[in-house]
Amino acid sequence: MKYEKEINRRKTFAIISHPDAGKTTLTEKFLLFGGAIQVAGAVKSNKIKKHATSDFMEIERQRGISVATSVMTFEYNGFLINLLDTPGHKDFAEDTYRTLTAVDSVVLVVDSVNGVEEQTRRLMEVCRMRSTPVIVFINKLDRDGKNRFDLLEEIEKELNISLHPMTWPINSGKDFKGVYNLHDKSLRIFTANTKADEEDVIAISDLSNPVVDEKLGARDAATLRENVELVDGVYGELNVEDYLAGKVAPVFFGSAVNNFGVKEMLDTFIRIAPIPKDRETNKREISVDEDKFSGFVFKIHANLDPKHRDRIAFLRVCSGKFERNTYYHHVRLDKDVRFSNPYSFMARSKDVIEDAYPGDVVGLFDTGNFKIGDTLTEGEDLYFTGIPSFSPEIFKELVNKDPMKTKQLEKGISQLTDEGVAQLFTQFGGNKKIIGCVGDLQFEVIQYRLLHEYGAACEFRTLPFYKACWLTSKDPKKLEEFLRFKQQNSAEDKDGNPVYLAQSEWFLNTEIQNNPDIQFHFTSEVL
Ligand code: G4P
Repeated sequence: MKYEKEINRRKTFAIISHPDAGKTTLTEKFLLFGGAIQVAGAVKSNKIKKHATSDFMEIERQRGISVATSVMTFEYNGFLINLLDTPGHKDFAEDTYRTLTAVDSVVLVVDSVNGVEEQTRRLMEVCRMRSTPVIVFINKLDRDGKNRFDLLEEIEKELNISLHPMTWPINSGKDFKGVYNLHDKSLRIFTANTKADEEDVIAISDLSNPVVDEKLGARDAATLRENVELVDGVYGELNVEDYLAGKVAPVFFGSAVNNFGVKEMLDTFIRIAPIPKDRETNKREISVDEDKFSGFVFKIHANLDPKHRDRIAFLRVCSGKFERNTYYHHVRLDKDVRFSNPYSFMARSKDVIEDAYPGDVVGLFDTGNFKIGDTLTEGEDLYFTGIPSFSPEIFKELVNKDPMKTKQLEKGISQLTDEGVAQLFTQFGGNKKIIGCVGDLQFEVIQYRLLHEYGAACEFRTLPFYKACWLTSKDPKKLEEFLRFKQQNSAEDKDGNPVYLAQSEWFLNTEIQNNPDIQFHFTSEVL
């Protein structure tokens, strides 16, 4: 295998969480360990504090200048780690879903005070769809949180995944004393703001060692022994295969802001997290160690400066070696393209790179050639599967406010939907343009960008739909009939696939029951 050494040292993952659980803080600690940044506070939160377009645009503008924050690459213990950033705001959940298609594993941050929150639930559904291996970090142990047994039970139940504690906390809040590492049987005493290189771990081969009482006090030492016995009895050793299959999630407790319990997790991550794997395409499985290059675009980042309309397409390398200034085959457009300035993403700076290997993410300058899901190969005609569109949740009709600018509006909406900002549906017969988004904020962003980048004024008219279902049928006649009969609720997506727009769950269920020959799908993947 030509690139075995490079593949074996790469780990590509994302940190996901409900906003405010501590994703940004944890990211920063990882980068500190990786030596990619030197001081805390260097990673800016990409969180939208207020529900305001201006706030979002400002953040996007900053990110446009420093797209480096979208992918952070650092080295740790000989491994090259690609950490993909995901937006925290729920209105941009779809962006996060797509980023999850480009990673090999995930770290999920759960706030020990708030437990499982809405956003976490959704993100985990996507991880489960793809059987992505997950490590859980239970954060903010320095605050009075939920009882940890209850919390574990809640996470297992709500997220439908089996957990496996790897560390065990001693108290929480003001009484938080540290974590016991169940795997290597060591005790780490809590100190606030632990420095990355500080070692304050006490190795104890046996919990009955009096040093435990000395460090924790007799009462907490006794509770720890009891808990550890219980936890060991229930869970035993972690089965790494179950973790890799996405069936069991190892759990760590800590406090990200104090850099506490983070190193335990990072060291385990390095040990067990998957290296880049083989990937499915519509034709065959692409083996990660094939000599020939292949990769797909999972994200497109617009440059919001109207003077520079170029965009950056994020390409995940799946096999072979990507090289600068080499022609690759753009499968959808059936043409060969090459890139003279591909970017790699080292934290906080963009560097032109010469080559990249499976697991890496490359930033490609794009003037409108790419859309999400596009595949590049060395000539083979195939595309990667598993990059679905999900049903939007809010639907609005796009109304042109300036007939003189129709062309600009059409171009603008086409490019924005290629970027994955929203989904575009066109009603059958009526030609009505319907925009589907996950959150209201996206409509504001579209309106702002259409005006500022394309000079096209538009407004939105709310439509009474709640879900879009992609339709398939073995009987094309039945499908055609259905679409004709349900014209008010039928549309085609950007690729011309038929979609049913349901007003409510009741309507949807009724149609599903009444039309056994038609399959209703909640993602576009099936097509
Ligand atoms: P996010 O990216 O998931 O949205 O969360 P982020 O890291 O921004 O953290 C959200 C808030 O929680 C921040 O406070 C952060 O300092 C705090 N935090 C993170 N880890 C811990 C922890 O272990 N313990 C405690 N007590 N707090 C933690 P903030 O006030 O919103 O922001 P900032 O002004 O402190 O930056």
